[in-house]
Amino acid sequence: MRKNIVAGNWKMNTTVPEGVQLAKDVCAAVAAEANLKCDVIMGVPFTHLMAVKEVIGDANVGLAAQNCADHTSGAYTGEVSAAMVASTGANYVILGHSERRGYYNESYEMLKTKVDLALENGLKVIFCCGESLEERENGSFKDVIGAEIRDSLFHLTAEQMANIVIAYEPIWAIGTGKTATSDQAQEIHAFIRGLLADKYGAQVADDTTILYGGSCKPSNAPELFAKPDIDGGLIGGASLKAADFMGIVTAF
Ligand code: PGA
Repeated sequence: MRKNIVAGNWKMNTTVPEGVQLAKDVCAAVAAEANLKCDVIMGVPFTHLMAVKEVIGDANVGLAAQNCADHTSGAYTGEVSAAMVASTGANYVILGHSERRGYYNESYEMLKTKVDLALENGLKVIFCCGESLEERENGSFKDVIGAEIRDSLFHLTAEQMANIVIAYEPIWAIGTGKTATSDQAQEIHAFIRGLLADKYGAQVADDTTILYGGSCKPSNAPELFAKPDIDGGLIGGASLKAADFMGIVTAF
């Protein structure tokens, strides 16, 4: 039975003290929630991982980095390896976010390597995919999403897929206030689950958590999460205020 997950993606926001405070607020709110129906994860900047891990302690909250290097170690100034991320106590890494693909030219091939390194180091991967507005409008969106998933994930074994969470994030909905309608999102989530079923069989498809991301907020989360193939959200802007984030966590 797959898990529901609500994961925050703080992106390049908050100083360390601000992030520590936000993490404290989220952890306190999660602890106060008697009937939690999803796993909660905070995706924080590299600089915050150790401090936020300390705040989390043994609370029931996961910790994610937002990227890792496509090399193991060595002369890659400014890069942070999967082993380094894992050594902070983080359990997840977000890979393939459209901002990384777009601004930092992350290719399918590079992401495949990052996925492998993350898994080798015991990290679970939140793997992002999603189409641009142009691809939505010209009708190529399913081809694009299919290629993103196939080319960076389909070399994995069925056992490895147990450590992959997929996040569908239409680029035109990220940070724009424009959410995909719940029907549009459900259509793509079902499409992705179909790809997984074709490649790995019904069990893996059924067990894989597929998140929606893109202007998800407390007001639209209940309708999105009510869809059969939407298993939670990857939350950007609304993860920066504990009350908004918790409004989504409690939307199930
Ligand atoms: P948003 O970002 O919630 O601010 O639209 C989502 C994401 O990029 O993960």
